[in-house]
Amino acid sequence: MSMAFKLFLLLFILSHNAYAEALYQHLGNKAQALSQQLQYNLTISPDGQGLPIGKGNATQGAKLFKQQCSSCHGPAGIGASAEPLVGEVGSLRSNYPEKTVNSYWPYATTLFDYIRRAMPIDAPFSLTADEVYALSAYILNQDDIIANDVELNEETLPKVIMPNIDGFISFYPDPN
Ligand code: HEC
Repeated sequence: MSMAFKLFLLLFILSHNAYAEALYQHLGNKAQALSQQLQYNLTISPDGQGLPIGKGNATQGAKLFKQQCSSCHGPAGIGASAEPLVGEVGSLRSNYPEKTVNSYWPYATTLFDYIRRAMPIDAPFSLTADEVYALSAYILNQDDIIANDVELNEETLPKVIMPNIDGFISFYPDPN
């Protein structure tokens, strides 16, 4: 390889690096700005931090579930193409453990977080806060985790005790 060609190669690579940097330096900025808007700031903690104001019960949720969820999750939250949401509580230690929302998830607040951000799978973030509370109530009531007439809202939802609450251990050491 001649010296001139080596020099040419070097310049070629350097100039393309600079070009690539200029081209891609905005990558991710828009997503980051969006993530700071309230609409996209969706994370809800187990203690309820981040829950919006609203309310709903299982009766209201049953109606919505039939219209918007049962085509994939089955008429009562089990038995169709998508994940079973209800049933199998207490099965995790059996020979046939089945992870459903009600048998496996440790916090009820995760249900609100997940439904709001991801469901229906073809129209995420289309439900109002009241609708998500109602749907959460319906799913939890299917396994009697809450009674039929309980109103879920930003205060009552974090107080719901899930059957598998003690089934997880923290990866991080206890700070106390
Ligand atoms: C078009 C089909 C479809 C519809 C409609 C739909 N879902 Fe889903 N849902 C899915 C699929 C597929 C998954 C699994 C997604 C994954 O694991 O990434 C899922 C997962 C879930 C989960 C998490 C289950 C788990 O154990 O991980 C919940 C909760 C849920 N859906 C609730 C709802 C609710 C409530 C509605 C109605 C508002 C709804 N879904 C409507 C297809 C659908």
